[in-house]
Amino acid sequence: MIKKISVAQLKPGMFVKDMDCGWMEHPFLTDSFTVRSDKDIEKMIANGIHELYIDSEKGLDVVDAPTSIEVEETITRKIIEVANKFKEVEAVSLHDELPNARRVRDEANQVIGELMMGVRQGKKVETERLDPVVNRMSESILRNKDALVSLCRIKEKDNYTFLHSVSVGALLMCFTRVFRPKPDDMELVGIGGMLHDIGKTMVPDRILNKPGALTPEEFVTIQMHVQHGQNILSGARSISQTSFDVVAQHHERYDGTGYPLKLKGAEMSVYGQMASIVDVYDAMTSNRVYRVGMDPTLAVKKMFEWSRSHFDPELIQIFVRSIGIYPVGSLVMLESKRLAIILNQDGRDLTRPAVRAIYDANKRCFIAPQDIDLSANLGRGGGDRITSPESSTKWGIDAHQFL
Ligand SMILES: [Fe+2]
Repeated sequence: MIKKISVAQLKPGMFVKDMDCGWMEHPFLTDSFTVRSDKDIEKMIANGIHELYIDSEKGLDVVDAPTSIEVEETITRKIIEVANKFKEVEAVSLHDELPNARRVRDEANQVIGELMMGVRQGKKVETERLDPVVNRMSESILRNKDALVSLCRIKEKDNYTFLHSVSVGALLMCFTRVFRPKPDDMELVGIGGMLHDIGKTMVPDRILNKPGALTPEEFVTIQMHVQHGQNILSGARSISQTSFDVVAQHHERYDGTGYPLKLKGAEMSVYGQMASIVDVYDAMTSNRVYRVGMDPTLAVKKMFEWSRSHFDPELIQIFVRSIGIYPVGSLVMLESKRLAIILNQDGRDLTRPAVRAIYDANKRCFIAPQDIDLSANLGRGGGDRITSPESSTKWGIDAHQFL
């Protein structure tokens, strides 16, 4: 049986099933192993592991620990409660905003790509080149927060660093929108998000894109990208403190287990903390050369679970509200055994969004797309319900083709 325990309950002889840490850059060779000695436990504590899952059938048990199913049920209940407190109606529909968001995303990818290539060739970073495109990103998110964010989830494997940068920028702006920020804040945060990994231009590609586990030395080399990023930006003509904080603090953690400065809680700026949340979320939900990205709904739940230690619980609640339980553009299974794509969650019960059914999972064939408002009563297009989130990679479905 899979059970959740705190690291204080861990003993040699237990089988670790999952260390419950979502960012991949940890120095352990695998997530599943038998604990051999107290040294293993000390190493986990030093790397910021607070809680983890054990398999009681493969090692020693903790009798009264909650099972993974009980943990999952509690999180789902809490997350629905949190997400439903925030109901906002978008100014423009997803359908109407998507063409514009697509243009803005392409422009943003191109600009950040050129900027990063320039830095790699030894040029000074021209951060002012980001201003016009970040302005257009902000306008798109204010019209409809889901269009740009859902498009940015699609990433080709080759240009991951550029695409991840734009996605983090868009997610951060979307997150900031919930705070009803001062006029410039969204754009300053967006610039920081776009530049957050600029220091990776100084890390060799063979380490950055290594498919296997990193050696401790390679791990340190990757971590150096935060310091490199700050050095690069200190040579920039104009960079705001807000943007700088995003770059400098995006790997810090609420409990002080991050890097480079091991800042804790309020020692980090709010935007630095928000950057650490969206950076992990985007990395988890992205396909990489060596792994398939996690389904966004599951990733939201995992982030919520980690909010007891690695992230500020209040900020995670706001993040969940900004992204929703079922992020727009993600795939779900309906009770009727049809696969559907989330269309919008405007002002409604977030467990019952509007969806577009596209595939019959029993007959294994595409169907004529049908829009269903899951919050409507039976006979008015409703009467169905979501039974589980689904991986579009597993089903081989490009959800965006149907938006
Ligand atoms: Fe980073």
